[in-house]
Amino acid sequence: MRPSFPLLAFSTLATLPNTYAQSDITDPTKRAELALSALQIWYNAATGLWDTTGWWNSANVLTMIGNLAKADPNNGQLVDLTKRIFANTIVQAPAMNPQQGIEDQSRTQSFNEQSNGTFTLFNGTRTGYTKVIDENGDYVTVYPKGWGQMTGEYIDVKSLPIFQSQGTSQATEDADPDDWLDGFYDDDLWWALGWINAFDVTGNSDYLDLAEGIFEGVTKAWPTNCSGGGIWWSIDKNYANAIANELFLSTAAHLANRADNKTFYVDWAKRELDWFLGTGMINDRGLINDGLDPQCRNNNRTTWSYNQGVILGGLVELNKASPNSSYLSLAARIAKAAIDELSDDDGVIHDECEPNCGGDGNQFKGIFARNLQLLHQAAPDALYVTTIQTNADSIWENDRDGGNRLSVDWAGPFVPPANASTHSSAMDALVAAITVK
Ligand SMILES: *[C@@H]1O[C@H](CO)[C@@H](O)[C@H](O)[C@H]1NC(C)=O
Ligand SMILES: *[C@@H]1O[C@H](CO)[C@@H](O)[C@H](O)[C@H]1NC(C)=O
Ligand SMILES: *[C@@H]1O[C@H](CO)[C@@H](O)[C@H](O)[C@H]1NC(C)=O
Ligand SMILES: *[C@@H]1O[C@H](CO)[C@@H](O)[C@H](O)[C@H]1NC(C)=O
Ligand SMILES: *[C@@H]1O[C@H](CO)[C@@H](O)[C@H](O)[C@H]1NC(C)=O
Ligand SMILES: *[C@@H]1O[C@H](CO)[C@@H](O)[C@H](O)[C@H]1NC(C)=O
Ligand SMILES: *[C@@H]1O[C@H](CO)[C@@H](O)[C@H](O)[C@H]1NC(C)=O
Repeated sequence: MRPSFPLLAFSTLATLPNTYAQSDITDPTKRAELALSALQIWYNAATGLWDTTGWWNSANVLTMIGNLAKADPNNGQLVDLTKRIFANTIVQAPAMNPQQGIEDQSRTQSFNEQSNGTFTLFNGTRTGYTKVIDENGDYVTVYPKGWGQMTGEYIDVKSLPIFQSQGTSQATEDADPDDWLDGFYDDDLWWALGWINAFDVTGNSDYLDLAEGIFEGVTKAWPTNCSGGGIWWSIDKNYANAIANELFLSTAAHLANRADNKTFYVDWAKRELDWFLGTGMINDRGLINDGLDPQCRNNNRTTWSYNQGVILGGLVELNKASPNSSYLSLAARIAKAAIDELSDDDGVIHDECEPNCGGDGNQFKGIFARNLQLLHQAAPDALYVTTIQTNADSIWENDRDGGNRLSVDWAGPFVPPANASTHSSAMDALVAAITVK
């Protein structure tokens, strides 16, 4: 592994002398910004990703940072840092896509010819990147040999080039949606949502164009063999699951409110929602299970926190694009059922995999918190405020080490080591707390 030394771009915010003093911090913005300084230790300027975490996870880190910039728009240093990260990641990260070009026949062909079997290169037998669901129903992602060990370049984010916030950078204009597809449609759509957020923060429509292109690529995964609709989880076309379909709904609905072709995206979002509601993926307790079995029935697998989250943001955006009172009431029903079932007696949210959630599950709860905040903005409810604040407080008080790193069990105690996915996920709750204070 590369030598690790911290990126100091954000250290000026950590003006308080020691962790005792930091325990007393109750201001949600200060907490989130201290946590951001800790997060940046893992940002690798050479890859555009956060070391210690996977490909799709970095899309979620990107989204979280964008939300922090949105929550504190007058902090010039923060907004500037965020823009530099977007501008760097859009250039650097495609080389790290663990199955870049898999959707494109002509490219897989040339990969075959070059492949020496040591890295990524897809040759039709999937020798590198795989995602499986193990006997406990947990998602497990296996990266190609050597992935993530690229020698990093730890430099001050402030020294990265910053592209203009409006329009004209060659690097962002040249972004190729195919570079962001990896054969797992959930991964693709996490990136689409990340780039939509980058558009929101910067106003640069190149980011939006990229997200539209990614979405377009994913529409090829429609339909599954269940009721003639929905998207598959992966290019293997063997599983119709909740997360990929919720992300498809959410991406379409976000694009409907931002892109030129509103009707096109509203239609996709509605088609997805109608299909989703028809599948029975939402169980009689009001929670969303993992997916459908081969007979197209709810498979009753784990009700992961993120599956109760992504749909909330999707319904909020769809309601904005094409109002229908059933959208927000459905969202409220799911959110309340999730808070009821996934919280412990102190109101802290858990996933059942804790504390051994692996590279995937340890990021789920933040996604729920992030989307609960979106629902609260659209349809405020005191329960959401309590939930967000309780979780943010518990993270800060019980789930943090001396370096302000945040781990997987939000109730604590701190489970070492924290990494960029446990940390950024907890930060989603800290960021949500800024907006409800
Ligand atoms: C295989 O390709 C990788 C990446 O280009 C390179 O680092 C490595 O040396 C190659 N290995 C062989 C045996 O050619
Ligand atoms: C794909 O690559 C692996 C590893 O080099 C090799 O074992 C396998 O035979 C290749 N398959 C095809 C269809 O080329
Ligand atoms: C749908 O396709 C999957 C994967 O090929 C298969 O296992 C399943 O039996 C099919 N289900 C139906 C209802 O056709
Ligand atoms: C809008 O979507 C339709 C349907 O795919 C497409 O034919 C049309 O070109 C799109 N228009 C724009 C402006 O993107
Ligand atoms: C899932 O659980 C429900 C309610 O307990 C049951 O009716 C249904 O048969 C189960 N589905 C499967 C695929 O086991
Ligand atoms: C509102 O949305 C629900 C759920 O998709 C749908 O069944 C209903 O027809 C919609 N109502 C209108 C007026 O479009
Ligand atoms: C990140 O940390 C969690 C919790 O310690 C661990 O389960 C997970 O495997 C780690 N991920 C990576 C990629 O090291």
